[in-house]
Amino acid sequence: MKTPGRTKIIELLKGATGVTITAKGWVRSKRGNKQIAFIALNDGSTIHNIQVVVDLAKISEEQLKPVTTGACLRVTGKLVESQGSGQPVEVQAEEIEVYGSADSESYPLQKKGHTLEFLREIAHLRPRTNTFGAVLRIRHAMAFAIHNYFNIKGFYYIHTPIITASDAEGAGAMFQVSTLDMNNPLRDEQGAIDYSKDFFGKHACLTVSGQLEGELCAMALGEIYTFGPTFRAENSNTPRHLAEFWMIEPEMAFYDINDNMDLAEDFIKYLVRYAIEHCIDDLKFLNEMYDKELIERLQSVCNTDFVRLDYTEGIDILLKSGQKFEFPVSWGVDLQSEHERYLVEIHFKKPVILTNYPKTIKAFYMKQNEDGKTVRAMDVLFPKIGEIIGGSQREESFDRLMARIKEDKMDMATLWWYLDTRRFGSAEHSGFGLGFERLLLFVTGMSNIRDVIPFPRTPKNAEF
Ligand code: 4AD
Ligand code: MG
Repeated sequence: MKTPGRTKIIELLKGATGVTITAKGWVRSKRGNKQIAFIALNDGSTIHNIQVVVDLAKISEEQLKPVTTGACLRVTGKLVESQGSGQPVEVQAEEIEVYGSADSESYPLQKKGHTLEFLREIAHLRPRTNTFGAVLRIRHAMAFAIHNYFNIKGFYYIHTPIITASDAEGAGAMFQVSTLDMNNPLRDEQGAIDYSKDFFGKHACLTVSGQLEGELCAMALGEIYTFGPTFRAENSNTPRHLAEFWMIEPEMAFYDINDNMDLAEDFIKYLVRYAIEHCIDDLKFLNEMYDKELIERLQSVCNTDFVRLDYTEGIDILLKSGQKFEFPVSWGVDLQSEHERYLVEIHFKKPVILTNYPKTIKAFYMKQNEDGKTVRAMDVLFPKIGEIIGGSQREESFDRLMARIKEDKMDMATLWWYLDTRRFGSAEHSGFGLGFERLLLFVTGMSNIRDVIPFPRTPKNAEF
């Protein structure tokens, strides 16, 4: 592929030597002596740098002064087979133009091996590190693979709203969207804030999930998916929670819970396989630097059948494990990540899809089982992550759904349109949500979710 004014380093490294080329990028390092200098240049197209060799008889030391770590350059010269052992080809510089220098006193990325915690504080510069270059390229590849997968399968991409007046998960952890004067909001006769005077004429929030609108479209187009940002105002300061994260939510008419599980398993295996096939250089780097079992774990997930297990059986296994958990286990509790990881990492040693959870810990829209106690929920649990997917077969009966909404004392006024799908042409249907950053945690082997999204939003942090 031709790029205006330069050739990308990923192309140069493929090695058509003997020609004059132009590369543009950022200096990773410079070393050398009085006769010769070596510049490692990176342009983000690959984890690998190109080596630029500078003959100081041709380009003066003075001219090379602003060529320091972090500076942005254009280099024109001949691409030749490398004399050294570290790389197949190198550029013999004929011309160097410094686009932007980077003061070596103040540029924060001088040396290698900064901690991830430090890099979070300079999230505006961390894309220039090997680690974040690799993560961001993999993030792109996974987004592309997701659209590819669904496109091949005939699913339609639906853009669900980001601003909404309904709480899709019924959990209430939502960010408000308002143009009312926060110092002096208009109030009604009872003294409550009068949202009828607000921008949307009602209480509005950022969405926690596109599912409900996704269901409306699945009940017309058959198989759809959403892929967008979602927001949760839960004060969860963990390595697996973000206040703003991206979620992929397929929703399918005429699927029962088993079809739903089959799709989830096939989908996630496709994505992991895609990463192995298309991102191997970046994966090798991450495997070397952060997680020596990464590639092996990715391969093993592709080649294994996920365990499918009832919540009730899962609880039994945990109770009989003899393990001391921080959060005690009994039938009816919501599983914590320590429990999920025990099942996946210690007991089964492979991914687990847990189904038929108690209805009291799951959302109102899930299909109720005949036992009156459980719902047809499914959580996909992964090694190192815990819950990576949450989904269910949906309650298609108007009466049962209404009963559940009343039981949960939910506000029906904001959901009338959702209930209409159960009044007009209702049918069995199912769906799930894959947390994009949880997927990336798994695929990259990174251990903190703040390191797989360019600019993380978490409690007390919205910098950059
Ligand atoms: O289990 P959740 O809350 O399910 C839903 O939102 C459903 N509406 C999905 C559906 O059936 N269409 O969230 C789904 C997934 C989780 O399994 C997890 O991977 C991710 O979204 N997730 C988060 N990721 C990062 N930060 C958070 N705070 C997350 N909360 C959920
Ligand atoms: Mg969940």
